[in-house]
Amino acid sequence: MQKKDIKWSELGFSYIKTDKRYISRWKDGKWDDGQLVEDNMIPINEGSTCLHYGQECFEGLKAYSTKDGGIQLFRPDENAKRMQKSCAKVLMPEVPVEKFIDACMQVVKANEAWVPPYGSGATLYLRPFVIGVGENIGVRPAPEYIFGVFCMPVGPYFKGGMTPVNFITTDADRAAPNGTGKAKVGGNYAASLLSHKEAVDKGFADCIYLDPSTHTKIDEVGAANFFGVTKDNKFITPHSSSILPSITRISLMQVAKDYLGMEAIETDVYVDKLDMFAEAGACGTAAVITPIGGIEHKGKFHVFHSETEVGPVTKKLYDTLYGIQMGDVKAPEGWIYKVK
Ligand SMILES: Cc1ncc(COP(=O)(O)O)c(C=O)c1O
Repeated sequence: MQKKDIKWSELGFSYIKTDKRYISRWKDGKWDDGQLVEDNMIPINEGSTCLHYGQECFEGLKAYSTKDGGIQLFRPDENAKRMQKSCAKVLMPEVPVEKFIDACMQVVKANEAWVPPYGSGATLYLRPFVIGVGENIGVRPAPEYIFGVFCMPVGPYFKGGMTPVNFITTDADRAAPNGTGKAKVGGNYAASLLSHKEAVDKGFADCIYLDPSTHTKIDEVGAANFFGVTKDNKFITPHSSSILPSITRISLMQVAKDYLGMEAIETDVYVDKLDMFAEAGACGTAAVITPIGGIEHKGKFHVFHSETEVGPVTKKLYDTLYGIQMGDVKAPEGWIYKVK
């Protein structure tokens, strides 16, 4: 199979139309078998609930090329389960876990020429989604749904290695205390666009959301979860009902415990107690880990390990998890799904 003629190492995180995508439709209480299609446009009714009432959700995961020429997915079952929870939260029919994984496998196989080679630093990003469609105008669940999966090659997140970046806290909330923060639904992201822009305009990489009830604890770092490494070598990550449960974060907690022998704890992270951390980072599928240089809060700037160098524990966490995803480090049972 001939790979596409792409300068893999120059790829960013941008839309590219690949050859095939998967579409399945739900009507009269059931999903159809789904199929691969070439058309990347989806004609939908003008009254579709996804357009007016945000009845939609999505996922993000990656396929990796391994040294031996294989291709593998990292914990797609976790994305499938999280998407079921998102669907349930906005009254959409759940996609069975097997159907979700099968759709991802089909899309990767059909676009094998687009899967970046091992060692290029690039990966194939998959975007599954469910949208409410069909004739409607009132605020109610849609009569029909579409489950789709498309993909594109994306670049290495860190062009010049893992460089720390700075963040600023915001007064805005992306989700309410008992709202939709735990679900990967579009409204949370629409609600984050303005505060993201304000942070970037001030020269920061993104904003940090505080817990929406008291604004005293760290909730999320833009579209990623926060973690800190304490001075006595514990891995700490926020416990909150309004953050998206990151699959990278649960994986890092296990890596910290089982590979690095650290204690991993989910607990409150007070924004005025950042001194307890020797290192900090943001974690998510896109970058695995983004080291946090410093955080500005109420005019004060707190630096963790360094504004220019990645900390030693953050580096080990990154190398281990990325090694597992690329097939270079032995994975815990059930984390890897071989496509080829
Ligand atoms: C709001 C938000 N938090 C955290 C994450 C990280 O989650 P994951 O590690 O599953 O990619 C994402 C990305 O999906 C996100 O959008």
